[in-house]
Amino acid sequence: MTDDAQVLSERLLTALVGAAELFTVELGRELGLYAALRDRPLDAAELAKTAGIDERYAREWLEQQAAAGFLTVDGSAFTLASGAAEVLLDEGGPCFLGTAGEFAVGLGLAAPRVAEAFRTGAGIPYADYGRHIRHGIASFNRPMFDLLLTTEWLPAVPEVEARLRATPGARVLDLGCGTGRSSVALALAHPAITVRGIDLDEDSVTEARAAAATAGVADRVSFTLGDAADLDGEYDLVTVFEALHDMGDPVGVLRAVRPRLAPGGSVLIGDERVADEFTAPAGELERLQYAFSVLHCLPATRAEQPVIANGTILRAPTLLAWARDAGYERPEVLDIPNDFWRFYRLR
Ligand SMILES: C[S@@+](CC[C@H](N)C(=O)[O-])C[C@H]1O[C@@H](n2cnc3c(N)ncnc32)[C@H](O)[C@@H]1O
Repeated sequence: MTDDAQVLSERLLTALVGAAELFTVELGRELGLYAALRDRPLDAAELAKTAGIDERYAREWLEQQAAAGFLTVDGSAFTLASGAAEVLLDEGGPCFLGTAGEFAVGLGLAAPRVAEAFRTGAGIPYADYGRHIRHGIASFNRPMFDLLLTTEWLPAVPEVEARLRATPGARVLDLGCGTGRSSVALALAHPAITVRGIDLDEDSVTEARAAAATAGVADRVSFTLGDAADLDGEYDLVTVFEALHDMGDPVGVLRAVRPRLAPGGSVLIGDERVADEFTAPAGELERLQYAFSVLHCLPATRAEQPVIANGTILRAPTLLAWARDAGYERPEVLDIPNDFWRFYRLR
């Protein structure tokens, strides 16, 4: 074997270990096994009883999780390893990545259909990716909405933040709102505002309504099932978080938003922080985004009668060109640090 072949084969083997372990993480999440281990060490019989699963499978999973380093073991009792509760259980916390396995399962389930789509050129509707991908996206983004959106991102645009604090309450439109976490976070931080979320995916809209009700903001936060290009009303702020690249007609959407902006209104977009031009090999996060693009975003967008099917990799020069095409004279990249997203303001 050449040195290069050796390096590549080791890399793929490491990736296979990671992928297989991610699927076992999803077993632990789906079956409530990590949750059962949160409070006290358990052996296989206790885990089986607490979680309502078969004991022999429980023992194999416990041993595998300890072998992977997610649990520690003392005799026959297994405990969450240091840090595991924060990463695997504390949803909404800054370290949570407990649905990484769910995300991976969703991509794996989609792979055969993606292969078929490659042959035919067909798209795969967002809804057909199902709950694994929907929840994977929502859980990945939720900590950013809960912890950063109103404390770091909006304060970086003082004019916009001031409008959200002013009376009469600002009207916010959240396009491609998914399961509504951004809409709810905005409403919780700004008691005078009303928020309307729009999304094309019915299950996302249903979950968004439930999230608003649970958060006690359903009187000010509403959700509409529909296309972001099909708009009515007037808004002081329009947000689009990790959704513009998914839209089949992003320029059409931005064009439809413009006449809906109240005087002094702005569009705030958060989308992937990728390089300004194609580079290979790319950095680690861009590699992740490209893999999502192949397996999810591009097929989902192609199911939308697309004018443009961009895929996940929405580069800053492309977004700024779309904005100018749609009639925004001063699109700007905002100076908001974030590993995953770059932010834009259009007026
Ligand atoms: C990656 S998800 C992001 C969801 C949410 N903004 C978040 O950050 O968690 C992209 C969302 O855009 C929605 N979407 C795609 N095309 C759309 C369109 N044309 N109009 C409205 N929503 C659309 C999808 O249904 C999906 O919920």
